[in-house]
Amino acid sequence: MSESNTKNQLVDRFGRTVNYIRLSVTDRCDLRCVYCMPEKMKFVPRTQLLTLEEIESIARSFIGLGVDKIRITGGEPLVRKNILQLFNNLGEIEALRDLTLTTNGTQLKKFARPLKDAGVTRINVSLDTLRADRFHDMTRIGDLQQTLDGLDTAIACDFDQIKLNSVVMKNHNHDEMHDLVKFCIDRGIDISFIEEMPLGDNDHHDRAATYCSSDEILADLEQHYEIIPTTMKTAGPTRYYRLAEHDNTRVGFISPHSHNFCDSCNRVRLTAEGRLLLCLGQEHSMDLRRVVRSNPGDKQALENAIIDSMQLKPKGHEFDLNSQTVLLRHMNLTGG
Ligand code: GTP
Ligand code: 5AD
Ligand code: SF4
Repeated sequence: MSESNTKNQLVDRFGRTVNYIRLSVTDRCDLRCVYCMPEKMKFVPRTQLLTLEEIESIARSFIGLGVDKIRITGGEPLVRKNILQLFNNLGEIEALRDLTLTTNGTQLKKFARPLKDAGVTRINVSLDTLRADRFHDMTRIGDLQQTLDGLDTAIACDFDQIKLNSVVMKNHNHDEMHDLVKFCIDRGIDISFIEEMPLGDNDHHDRAATYCSSDEILADLEQHYEIIPTTMKTAGPTRYYRLAEHDNTRVGFISPHSHNFCDSCNRVRLTAEGRLLLCLGQEHSMDLRRVVRSNPGDKQALENAIIDSMQLKPKGHEFDLNSQTVLLRHMNLTGG
């Protein structure tokens, strides 16, 4: 992949340049994580999903307008039929510098090598616990070994970065942070600890009661490691630290509640149904499926709609763990 695309036409009302799109390719998943969706999640009928061809043409329009980072998300992206075709096609686009994936890892044993061959640069794997019984509780149906096997296959493929994502919940996994960091050190991979966001109704746990701030985790880790702040940035909101004696592992924090990062937001996201969301924590959106289907083959109409959508991007999210009103949308519709 070649040098950065310099002509970026996507600037919002607050002067923020959008150079990163997250594409959710399905809302379906083979797990049911308790912070993400209810046990009996109702998925979007397949007929309402964008086709892979429509997703690709929207991605190409974004790239034409200056986007050079794409993250494929879900649900679980690797359960979407023929998904490799999309990776193969996107991987061939010269102006795309960073083609990345967020996955739960269950399918990586089969897909890691073909993804690397397609040009995927970095993979984030969701893993909240290393204990099989807890993993089964937090994902409701998952088998820890399957995810670990997938992760090991990906590590062997030599991606530019492999990062674990761990959503931290009091009384579920908050006592495992040191074990998770040690696990990453042993494998030379990175980790982000994430504060849970209130998306979609949730009758499994009280989100305010299970909230664990990034600062608490950092304080806990400082008992075991010398932790040094860095200026390292990937495309997203992670604040990275390095460990004094372990050069191959960075520990990151995604802290929507305790350290707001909206001022530097550079991203928008497309739902599996083709709704362009201008912020994860707000409902401002543009229906790109309608634009694509009512103007078949008309690239200009699509580009105009995308440029116009920048005016809708709000200043930031307003997550409140104590509020009764939460966004109705569950995380699996947007992949974060
Ligand atoms: P890079 O984009 O490559 O830096 O990776 P990332 O860690 O940001 O992406 P990933 O898909 O792994 O997401 C990790 C967590 O960050 C998820 O919980 C996302 O919901 C969260 N996240 C990513 N972007 C945003 C954002 O714009 N706002 C909020 N509130 N959370 C975000
Ligand atoms: N809050 C924070 N992170 C979440 N994820 C899923 N649901 C939530 C939530 N409610 C994480 C997953 C995955 C990433 C896309 O988002 O663990 O790693
Ligand atoms: Fe599936 Fe990811 Fe949601 Fe877990 S967090 S249920 S793996 S989409």
